[in-house]
Amino acid sequence: MRTQVAIIGGGPSGLLLSQLLHKAGIDTVVLERQTREYVLGRIRAGVLETGFVNLMREAGVAERMDKEGFIHDGTLIAYDNEQFRIDFAKHTGNHVVVYGQTEVTRDLYNAREKMGGAVLHGVADVELHDLTAKPYVTFTHNGQSQRLDCDFIAGCDGFHGPSRQAIPLSVRREYEKVYPFGWLGVLSETPPVDHELIYSNSARGFALCSMRNANLSRYYVQCSLSDSPDDWSDQAFWDELKRRIPEEAAERLVTGPSIEKSIAPLRSFVTEPMRYGALFLCGDAAHIVPPTGAKGLNTAASDIHYLYTGLRQHYLDKDSNGLDVYSQKALARIWKAERFSWWMTNLLHRFPDQSEFDIKMQRADLEFLRENDAAQTVLAENYVGLPF
Ligand code: FAD
Ligand code: DHB
Repeated sequence: MRTQVAIIGGGPSGLLLSQLLHKAGIDTVVLERQTREYVLGRIRAGVLETGFVNLMREAGVAERMDKEGFIHDGTLIAYDNEQFRIDFAKHTGNHVVVYGQTEVTRDLYNAREKMGGAVLHGVADVELHDLTAKPYVTFTHNGQSQRLDCDFIAGCDGFHGPSRQAIPLSVRREYEKVYPFGWLGVLSETPPVDHELIYSNSARGFALCSMRNANLSRYYVQCSLSDSPDDWSDQAFWDELKRRIPEEAAERLVTGPSIEKSIAPLRSFVTEPMRYGALFLCGDAAHIVPPTGAKGLNTAASDIHYLYTGLRQHYLDKDSNGLDVYSQKALARIWKAERFSWWMTNLLHRFPDQSEFDIKMQRADLEFLRENDAAQTVLAENYVGLPF
């Protein structure tokens, strides 16, 4: 088998790249380990920057998102029963769109299917070869060993995939920070407690009230890394959430049975460089942010933008500059999203080793943010997304 760009991983990064390249007349094959149902069953991000939204439009897959997504012009920050609003529209003239990663992925799968895109599910034993000369990928599909020759490989296979590991340790440098807590997330078929998100710092730990649509809410509470979702009954979750958000929100909160409950650990991680020979890393394969600030999926989208632009230039204009600067450009934006997510995480969580002094600093940071227009602008600019 031969293609121009072999894409490892059929999550949002891989599918979006495949769809964009297809529209530019560039041939791809996507290799995905899981079934489509499994990928669509993973409940993850929910907030899209306009840069992401515009890429979906360019890829011709924005119709449902434009109809069903919710425009959010601001967000609420709460602490100690106090609440204030960051007005994105006032500070940036921009907004974010609430539309779940599951729906983004579903729309991309449908589009790929309609256009006859090659997306192979259930592939195993993926290995990358000859990255600095004549690249190819080997894998097993339906019990058969296969070889896929290509010009380039896009490593879109998430944090645990094989692509990053294919960069020799002599070249690869990794930066990591692991946080001493996780997020317990619940999805429930109940109306959201507010029409905007509430990020809450409470003495009992962080909480977030988010949503997917008018009758689907997504809530999170900071939890211990040793917790398992089975330790948390629905009642225990709702009781804890209510204790961590302002009273008037707790009184309005509509509870119901959870339809999904999971725990995600929090981590900051970046690998450098993001290119090695013919291999380009994108999304979670190259970097992870803690979810505070909703940057995970959005950083994946900026990588796809840079790689798509570079590959277009290479194939259509015979110009390799975009590919040559890919790693440098992608990393410059990633590190700023890493900083923002790290800052939001520090601002809003309780850390096990936090001293009284640290808590006073956190509180001063929150009060300054509440009172200071310039600080609000900084948050708003980062939240709606820095330019590509
Ligand atoms: P992924 O979505 O991880 O996709 C990678 C794909 O590669 C997967 O489909 C995987 O099956 C496939 N793959 C892996 N190994 C192989 C292999 N060997 N061969 C073939 N295929 C392979 N972000 C937010 O903004 N907000 C959130 O609330 C949020 N919650 C999250 C919760 C969890 C548990 C996780 C893990 C992430 C969360 N994120 C969140 C981050 C966000 O979902 C990711 O940034 C986003 O999914 C990145 O997309 P991706 O396509 O790069 O990687
Ligand atoms: C969601 C997740 C986030 O990490 C965040 O900052 C905002 C919203 C969500 O899943 O809806």
